[in-house]
Amino acid sequence: MNPKLNLKYKDLVNLLKKKAPFIPEIALILGSGLGDFASSVELFKTISTAELPGYPPSTIIGHEGKIHFAKYEGKNLLLFQGRIHFYEGYSISECILPAFLSYKLGCTKIFITNAAGGINPDFHPGDLMLALSFNTFGIKKELSSLIGTLSEEGTNNLRDFPSNAFNNIIRQAAKKEKIDLKEGVYWYSKGPSYETPAEIRMMGKFSSDAVGMSTVHEALFAAYCGLDVASVSCITNYAAGISSAKLNHSEVTKTANIVKNKFERLVKRIISLI
Ligand code: HPA
Repeated sequence: MNPKLNLKYKDLVNLLKKKAPFIPEIALILGSGLGDFASSVELFKTISTAELPGYPPSTIIGHEGKIHFAKYEGKNLLLFQGRIHFYEGYSISECILPAFLSYKLGCTKIFITNAAGGINPDFHPGDLMLALSFNTFGIKKELSSLIGTLSEEGTNNLRDFPSNAFNNIIRQAAKKEKIDLKEGVYWYSKGPSYETPAEIRMMGKFSSDAVGMSTVHEALFAAYCGLDVASVSCITNYAAGISSAKLNHSEVTKTANIVKNKFERLVKRIISLI
């Protein structure tokens, strides 16, 4: 499986396997401003991605560029504090590296988080949204660059994508934590600029509830590799045109910061229910 990526990242995978204190079970990709979760669990090993030959350097504020091997309630975790974005100028086959490494290191589940703009008028900054599906319209062409990295049998895994059982665990965790978890469809927007109000109206008409610049390719690739996938978005702002407020990255990280505690409670409960 994944012949091209296996070749490209062979040394990186071997190095990480050597450094790994245990085989991780659950991978978490921590999105914009949500990276602090890493400081709330027991860390066994932290690796700066700058130390890893061939690992694309993170260029965004709020994305630390660290990989942690951690434990919570006896579960072995692999945390990606910071991700690789297409809008930073990286290719899709580089952006899916956290998903690829999760698979290679032995994870069977991946929980992907992100910051997103709310399209659904019932969503407000600070809400959390469970992804029911993803709209890949904006990166269909780029996703085809993964041809040659995926096996044919992998495509069957998309029948349960995102994983229904995993989503049910997340719903149960939210209920136990008394968190009003929204649900909806995530639209991938390439960036680097935020959308126009006209684009947001179109996305809404195509049944999308939130928009962000990550996750979809990571989620798809992990599912192709056979991992159970789930994703939660932190709604950090009203999408363009939903409110008249100006959008910028500091608003995104500010809201994510406010939501930190709620997010941490939800993720910890999810892990303990797995
Ligand atoms: N659009 C795209 N990506 C985002 C947004 C948004 O409004 N908010 C956070 N990430």
